[in-house]
Amino acid sequence: MTTRTPLRSPAPDAPSLTAPSVWPASATTAPGGDLSVGGVSLARLAERYGTPAYVLDEHELRGRARAWRRAFPDAEVVYAAKAFLCRAVVDWIAEEGLGLDVCSAGELELAATRAFPADRVLLHGNAKSPEDLRAALRIGVGRIVIDSDCEIARLATQVPGPDAQQVLVRVLPGIEAGAHEKIRTGAEGQKFGLSIADGDAEDAVARVLGQPRLDLVGLHSHLGSQIASPEPYAQSVRRLISFMARIRDRHGVTLPELDLGGGFAVPYAPGDPAASPAAYGHRITSELTRACAEFDFPMPRITIEPGRSIAAPAGVALYRVLSVKRTGGKVFVAVDGGMSDNPRPALYGARYTARLIGRAPTAPMRTATVVGRHCEAGDVLADAVELPADIRPGDVLAVPASGAYHVSMASGYNMTGRPPVVAVADGRSRLLVRRETLADMLERDMTP
Ligand code: LLP
Repeated sequence: MTTRTPLRSPAPDAPSLTAPSVWPASATTAPGGDLSVGGVSLARLAERYGTPAYVLDEHELRGRARAWRRAFPDAEVVYAAKAFLCRAVVDWIAEEGLGLDVCSAGELELAATRAFPADRVLLHGNAKSPEDLRAALRIGVGRIVIDSDCEIARLATQVPGPDAQQVLVRVLPGIEAGAHEKIRTGAEGQKFGLSIADGDAEDAVARVLGQPRLDLVGLHSHLGSQIASPEPYAQSVRRLISFMARIRDRHGVTLPELDLGGGFAVPYAPGDPAASPAAYGHRITSELTRACAEFDFPMPRITIEPGRSIAAPAGVALYRVLSVKRTGGKVFVAVDGGMSDNPRPALYGARYTARLIGRAPTAPMRTATVVGRHCEAGDVLADAVELPADIRPGDVLAVPASGAYHVSMASGYNMTGRPPVVAVADGRSRLLVRRETLADMLERDMTP
C-alpha cells in the first residue's frame, strides 16, 4: 500500500504572512517519485497529453476565488482575465460569483461565448481600440475604466443610450509597489492612469461629469503586481478616500465605488513572502473604515481584481528533459519548453522551483539550472534549483505556481506551438485547451 503525503496544509485564507507551500493543496507525493495533483498522477498526465503541458487544479482555482470573496464579504471580487482565461475558467469564475476584468475585445468575446453576465464585466486598457469599445458597448459591460483624457469624448459619443454607460476613472495614488519595475503601475512616470498629484485626475473627473452619456460611479487604481504586503493598499485607500472627499467638496458628487485593482502576491519558490486574502482583507477594510471616518466620507463599495493569486497556484507546468550538460561549473538541464511558454524569468527575473516526477531518484541532490530549448541564453526557467544528480533525458519535471501569465503570455517563438491546458479534479483530467500544432501555424502563412 502506498502512503500519500500532502505537500501543504494551510487553507488559502489562513490569516498568515508566512509563505505556504508552492504546490496546490491537493498535491500529494507517493513512494516511487510519483506526485499527483487533483488526484491525478502528473507523470501519467505527461504521458497522456505530452509535454510541455499545463495542468490546472480546478478546486484550487475555485477555492482561491472563494477565499477572496470570504476575505472581502462586502466587496465585488473581479477576476483579472489576463492571468489566464479559457471557457472553462469563465464558467468557474461565473459559478463562484465573481466578476471579470477584461482588457480586450478578445477576452470579452471569449467570456460572451459562455454568456458570462455582462453587468459583472469591467473593461480596462490604457489604449482601447475601436473594436474593444464596440464590443464592450454591444455586449453591455457593467463598467468601463477610463484611462486617458482622449477617450472620454470618444466613448461618450459611442454610447447608444438611452442609459448612460457606467465608468470609473483610473487614477494614480502615487505609490511604488510591485515585485519589478515593469509591473509597477501606481506611481507617476508609466503609461497607466491619471495623476492625482498634477491635477490630471481631477480634470478628467470634471470632464466625465460633463458628459450626460457617461455615469461616473467611482475611481479605479491598480498599484502593480506581486505585492506581498497589504500596506501599500492601506496607504492607497487613504489617498483615494481623501481624493474622493475633495471631489465631493469641489464638484458636489459623492462617488459610490472604489476599485483597488489586483496585484496580490503568490509564492513561486519556497520561502517567498505572501499574505493571505484574509490578511489583505482585514488591513484594507480597517484602513478604509478609518479613512472614511477621518474624511467624513460614506464607505464606498470596494472592488478588487485578483488575477495571479487565483490562477497561479492552481497551475503546474510539465516538461520533459531533452539534454543535461555540465559546462562552466554549472549543470544545465534543458527541457522541451522555455521562454515561449514562460517568459516571466526573462521579463521580470522571476524565480521558480522545479521537481523531478515519475521516478525515484537514485542520486543525491545537486544544484542545476533548468533552461528551455529556445535560441537565447536568457531562456532560463528555474535557476539554481536542487535536482537529483542522476537527472537524464526523458525525465519529467514539474514547475509549480505556473497558472498565471504563462499560457496567457505564451508566444510562437521558434514555432514550437503553445502548450495544452489540462484541468484536473477528483481524480479525473480533461483537456481545456489543446496544443497548438504545426498545422495551426502553417495555416496562417498565406503563401501557397
Ligand atoms: N487589474 C488591473 C487593472 C491589472 O492591470 C492587473 C494586472 C490586474 C488587475 C491583476 O493583477 P494580478 O492580481 O494578477 O497581479 N505579466 C506580469 C503581470 C502583469 C499584470 C498586469 N496587470 C507578470 O507575469 O508578473
